Amino acid sequence: MTDGAFDELVTFVEEELRFATSHYNDSYLDRRVSSRMRRTGNETYAEYLETLRADPDEQEALLDAMSINVTGFFRNPDVWSGIRSVLRLLAENDESDEVRIWSAACADGREPYSLSMLAHDDPEIDAATVRILGTDISEPALETARGGVYEEPRTVDIGDQLSFLDHYQQYVEEDGRTYRIADPVTRNVTFQRHDLINDDPKSGFDLVVCRNLFIYIDNEYKQSMLRTIAQSLRPGGYLVIGKAETIPPNLKSAFTVRDARLRIYQRDQKDLNGDD
Ligand SMILES: C[S@@+](CC[C@H](N)C(=O)[O-])C[C@H]1O[C@@H](n2cnc3c(N)ncnc32)[C@H](O)[C@@H]1O
Repeated sequence: MTDGAFDELVTFVEEELRFATSHYNDSYLDRRVSSRMRRTGNETYAEYLETLRADPDEQEALLDAMSINVTGFFRNPDVWSGIRSVLRLLAENDESDEVRIWSAACADGREPYSLSMLAHDDPEIDAATVRILGTDISEPALETARGGVYEEPRTVDIGDQLSFLDHYQQYVEEDGRTYRIADPVTRNVTFQRHDLINDDPKSGFDLVVCRNLFIYIDNEYKQSMLRTIAQSLRPGGYLVIGKAETIPPNLKSAFTVRDARLRIYQRDQKDLNGDD
């Protein structure tokens, strides 16, 4: 699939447009580039590179297409039933008076707000003890997240996504196609920029949810991202990754599988150093 012209294109994107293409796998990059090529009527990578060099609007359109920010409320509802069980276990643990959750690569905030709504909704969970941190590499995504207001495009039914909870109207103010997250739900959530490849690990989290990012990431970086996440969990803390994602072989020993299908893991007690 890759050829010299493709490599030249990718180098242009990396060096001139300053997008870290090396973090992503070639098939992902190729899909994004090919989709822009179809839109602009370019048939070869070389032709498209010419268009790209000459047209700043196309440069912006390509960068937009490359940033993977698809998300939703309660995405993959079966996984959220699993997350509910984990939250209940964490809420039961009376050694700690707080449940600390990190939604890593949270895009525009729908995932951390889903976590907060779930905590408010479940009678076995005291939402007042739950603290959720949402992080992403993208500042524009975080800006939307902090605003907590979502416009419904024609192709997405936000009400349907939220109906994972029977009475979601308690947590969201609906006005036509605009959904505003209610204050009690936003109060549990804070947002911060964090780059899972280059920034330091965090510490002491009871649960890290990091879904639908690894599928796009080159293996080399996937490992360092998962190591950052593993170090951010307290021993015995839980990890949820995307349904199509896997833990790299050399980090498998750091986790016990709790639900293979839903990709729920628990961090072992042992030290992570020396696992390589
Ligand atoms: C497909 S979205 C996943 C959103 C959410 N977790 C979900 O499953 O619905 C992937 C997110 O990863 C973010 N991202 C890409 N590279 C990243 C990095 N190095 N560190 C942190 N976030 C990153 C993107 O900005 C995007 O918002």
